[in-house]
Amino acid sequence: MDTIKSEEQVITMTQFRKDILTGLQASPKFLQAKYFYDHQGDLLFQQIMKMDEYYLTDAEMGIFLNQSGDIAAMISAENTPFDLIELGAGDATKSIHLLQELRERELEFSYLPIDISANVIRHLEEVLPLQLPGLAIKGLNGDYFKMLDKGIALSNRRKVVLFMGANIGNMHMEEAMAFCRSLKEHLSTGDMLVIGFDLKKDPKQILAAYNDAQGITAAFNLNLLSRINRELGADFDLKSFEHYACYDPESGACKSFLISEKEQVVHIPGESAISFGAYEPVYMEISQKYSLKEIEAMARATGFLSKHLFFDEHKYFVDAVWIVD
Ligand SMILES: C[S@@+](CC[C@H](N)C(=O)[O-])C[C@H]1O[C@@H](n2cnc3c(N)ncnc32)[C@H](O)[C@@H]1O
Repeated sequence: MDTIKSEEQVITMTQFRKDILTGLQASPKFLQAKYFYDHQGDLLFQQIMKMDEYYLTDAEMGIFLNQSGDIAAMISAENTPFDLIELGAGDATKSIHLLQELRERELEFSYLPIDISANVIRHLEEVLPLQLPGLAIKGLNGDYFKMLDKGIALSNRRKVVLFMGANIGNMHMEEAMAFCRSLKEHLSTGDMLVIGFDLKKDPKQILAAYNDAQGITAAFNLNLLSRINRELGADFDLKSFEHYACYDPESGACKSFLISEKEQVVHIPGESAISFGAYEPVYMEISQKYSLKEIEAMARATGFLSKHLFFDEHKYFVDAVWIVD
């Protein structure tokens, strides 16, 4: 851990500590998925995206490889300059195809990727201008809405927001509704949202994506305990926690837990000890799956007009284009 930190890093570290303690002292226990993504977490997520079982990346990649021209045409129909704001941009391996199309059409736009991972933003600012010379890019490192406020304040151009990778699925449905409503309130009439949803499908296929044979998803979940050890000096014994995923085909909720395999006590310096019962779960993440009916209903209920649905060839995934009504 660095000994000298900027004021912003110290605030982030204080928030990290506060959120981790809130989750571990709650009943039932939980940890926030946004904290998966430290340097190690980013690397593990890149491995997840390459797994055979993780169909989501290939499906959305197919949409952006084959239909970026149509998405670009829809985004630029008004023929006015715009800011393309990407929430949770990650390594932008899919959105780069859209950026390429927009550059080839010589459209006037700036790309503003937002991500909570400082590594991600550093990487994008370094690499994208080399891959797409002349791209106007400004990375924003922090939480979605805090950075969205910053991004929106940068210009009075119209906004196109990208929210891909089924990141919306990492929220419970009511939370996702509130998120979209809040997005709509940040935007103006005519602004656009391109939002990716993973669709309800064969439950076995869905479960396998979160329970891979090689144990990469398990390592990704356990890395958050390692991060707490590294950054807060805790003493989690990673060998006594096990990754567990389950999918409910009725609600569409796929949930991940870490299960304490025995009674145990974990210490975080400066805090009271945290006790775990045998087989006590720590809720880690939801990956909510949607039907087309639920997606259309969400657009209407949150103040958007659904303009178009872009599907991959198997109809596993959809990127919906919504317009602020
Ligand atoms: C599942 S990855 C998806 C990346 C990319 N959108 C894609 O489709 O490949 C989620 C990304 O969102 C970022 N993220 C998660 N929660 C966030 C939050 N609350 N605010 C900002 N970024 C967040 C993570 O750091 C990570 O890079």
